[in-house]
Amino acid sequence: MMEELSLHILDIVENSINAKATRVDIEVDINKEENLITIKVTDNGKGMDEKTLENVKDPFFTTKTTRKVGLGVSFLDEIAQLTGGSLDIESKLGIGTTIKLKLPIDHPDRPPLGDIVSTLITLLATNPCVWIVYRETRNGKSWEFNSKEVEELLGDYAWLGKIKEVLYNSYKEFTGGELI
Ligand SMILES: Nc1ncnc2c1ncn2[C@@H]1O[C@H](COP(=O)(O)OP(=O)(O)OP(=O)(O)O)[C@@H](O)[C@H]1O
Ligand SMILES: [Mg+2]
Repeated sequence: MMEELSLHILDIVENSINAKATRVDIEVDINKEENLITIKVTDNGKGMDEKTLENVKDPFFTTKTTRKVGLGVSFLDEIAQLTGGSLDIESKLGIGTTIKLKLPIDHPDRPPLGDIVSTLITLLATNPCVWIVYRETRNGKSWEFNSKEVEELLGDYAWLGKIKEVLYNSYKEFTGGELI
């Protein structure tokens, strides 16, 4: 299934939030010289036991009781295999989880990064209590969004609407509108 990477990031962070994470760090590194896009999501959620960690890439594995398949992580694994990339997952019970996806930028089956700001807005709107830090680096230059800083600046919920425009403008200035 072909989907934008920003939507996969949404899925992965939702796993973190389901695992009771209070802080999630999302790091995206775009390195054209190495032809590599790296997406790393780190959370301080409950972590996985050995059996879960062994099975997490299996599309028919889930610890959810409401259904019999868990597709989020297996989709990422499929993309990694399809493009000659990699998916590494580290997890410690009671400490948290790190998911690292590496994809070659120029592979024709590599999904586009997509709409990162929409992913951030969706995460903030649906999980206002989770501390989210997003950092993207493109060829050495970085852009960061930290939900704590914004919250302190604007107070509780009123900031969501206002921040949307600020975020879009700031991100566009950073990317120059370049679609990757
Ligand atoms: N960040 C995480 N922390 C703890 N456990 C995780 C994390 N990510 C995934 N898991 C475990 O791996 C299982 C599989 O995850 P996956 O996203 O593939 O499916 P799901 O979340 O169960 O279902 P779906 O994503 O389709 O709604 C989860 O049910 C959960 O037990
Ligand atoms: Mg999931």
